[in-house]
Amino acid sequence: MNTSVPLLTDYNTFKVGAKARSVHSLSSIAQLRLFLESHVSEPYLFLGQGSNVLFTRDYPYDVALVRWRGKQVKLLSETEALLIAAAGEPWHELVMWSLQQGLGGLENLALIPGSMGAAPIQNIGAYGVELKDVFEWCKAMHRTTLEERTFAFEECAFGYRDSVFKNELKDQYVITEVALRLSRNVHSINITYAPLQDWFAQAQTTTPISPLAVAEAVCSIRKAKLPDPKVIGNAGSFFKNPVISSEKAKELLSQNSETPIYPQPNGSFKVAAGWLIDQLHLKGFKMGKAAVHDKQALVLVNTGGASGKELFDLSTHIKQRVSETYRIELEEEVTIF
Ligand code: EPU
Repeated sequence: MNTSVPLLTDYNTFKVGAKARSVHSLSSIAQLRLFLESHVSEPYLFLGQGSNVLFTRDYPYDVALVRWRGKQVKLLSETEALLIAAAGEPWHELVMWSLQQGLGGLENLALIPGSMGAAPIQNIGAYGVELKDVFEWCKAMHRTTLEERTFAFEECAFGYRDSVFKNELKDQYVITEVALRLSRNVHSINITYAPLQDWFAQAQTTTPISPLAVAEAVCSIRKAKLPDPKVIGNAGSFFKNPVISSEKAKELLSQNSETPIYPQPNGSFKVAAGWLIDQLHLKGFKMGKAAVHDKQALVLVNTGGASGKELFDLSTHIKQRVSETYRIELEEEVTIF
């Protein structure tokens, strides 16, 4: 177990320089067990790639980095395979590796920052696909009893950026390994999301579209709109797209017929929070060293040396403006400490 300098700057994609008491890099399940055994009576925090957290203050306890690795493919049939990956596998690398193995299913989720273990917790999603669409099972260790348990799909209660691990079982388990059911030989491509449709319409492809081609398109579309956290600190979408009633959806559409509103399977609607923020002319808006990204208003960025408090204050300002104007309360997607 490595214990390093307790500054969290390199362990959160916002690049916020909060301090922790200590940082432990756990590179095996045995190290995970030791860490849990020695932390029964005090708080601690697990971080994967730190791509969905904002530290607004120093964290006065120990931080554990999920760094155990390993991946394998189990063929199930001519057309299906299980990809089994350890929690510490970096997500995008895993996506590209699966595509190189001829497996399909993760292409729409290319370039999402984060790790395998964190992916089910908030059911990561992009371009019409969510992790739940390929999820088979995950293994997790109970934080106090150290009992290892397998969670089947139905037990995870996946929702929009949501799962049982954020609700009833919050902070009770550490996900150690995840299995994803992927396609081989015969792939079903999902390019229903408008920017992807436009991309392939423009490319005028005559041959069948491969999963790898979808991943390449997703990467290009993301790069055009979303800042690379290696270059400019950010945590992707800061807020969730709010779920609204049909009455609210009608009201918004009567004010502006171009409001991006998406019907949900349960009869409710989602409205694009980025669009609402953009309508308030907040793209590029700065408060101290924190700013609203100039190409995607749902993304907050650290323009260099911003504190977590500055980013948080900017997020509060945005929430207030959206609430005053639209009577919609934005909810953070990012976990705030
Ligand atoms: N829009 C604007 N101005 C903006 C931002 C968005 O007008 O500044 C409009 C767009 O033109 C579009 C609509 O709002 O009509 C939706 O925008 P976009 O397609 O960029 O997606 P999003 O709803 O803002 C969600 C996810 C992203 C994911 C994309 C693509 C959430 C909270 N965010 O963003 O996920 O990549 O769809 O599927 O659901 C993340 O979770 O960190 C993340 C980046």
